[in-house]
Amino acid sequence: MELDPESLPIRERYALLISSILPRPIAWVSTISPEGVPNLAPFSFFTGITSNPMTICFCPINNRDGRPKDTLVNIRATKQFVVNLVTEAMAQRMNLTSAPFPYGVSEFEKAGLTPAPGRKVRPPRVAESPIQMECELFKLVDVSDGPLGGHLVIGKVVHYHADEAVWNEGRPRHQDLKAIGRMGGAWYSRTQDAFEMPRPMTAAEELKP
Ligand SMILES: Cc1cc2nc3c(=O)[nH]c(=O)nc-3n(C[C@H](O)[C@H](O)[C@H](O)COP(=O)(O)O)c2cc1C
Repeated sequence: MELDPESLPIRERYALLISSILPRPIAWVSTISPEGVPNLAPFSFFTGITSNPMTICFCPINNRDGRPKDTLVNIRATKQFVVNLVTEAMAQRMNLTSAPFPYGVSEFEKAGLTPAPGRKVRPPRVAESPIQMECELFKLVDVSDGPLGGHLVIGKVVHYHADEAVWNEGRPRHQDLKAIGRMGGAWYSRTQDAFEMPRPMTAAEELKP
């Protein structure tokens, strides 16, 4: 099977992307409008970039009518956001916050989530989430405009919060975190079926079968 993306309708390209790049971690991004109304939405085009400086990125795609997501509107205006991690226990509430509520409606209220104040940024954290990363906008790349156009939001992590319940020897334990991942269609994955495989430390070791 071979495909030229340019020959496909835009929706088909999207389906190909989300069914091919998986599982994807979910950034539950909280922002605040200049008027002070919080906003919360999940984004699975999300990853870390580097630890020096500690940077992460996610991609809000424009709506089909070309309007930008509320998250992007707020980040352009305030230059700040928080990435909250999503666990199995929070899956339903996370999904609810992806509904297309009008600008100015707080998804915290709609999903019954508790806003906790940021230490270094104005957007609130999701108190129920076990890991929260406060970010300052590092760079915004407008890849394309118009319907389903996309944007790359790069954030510098300026403060990190973790629940003691998932914390062990200086980092979160995935066994306790129980994060979920997004796949194609409406499918999700759990992270409890993990396996361990240390990296080879020498080139010779790498050659062993
Ligand atoms: C698990 C999940 C992952 C999502 N990932 C993305 C994404 O990477 N980019 C995007 O633009 N929308 C994504 N969405 C859809 C947005 O969450 C949805 O459009 C939301 O209404 C945007 O909210 P906002 O307008 O308040 O920013 C995702 C939805 C779900 C449920």
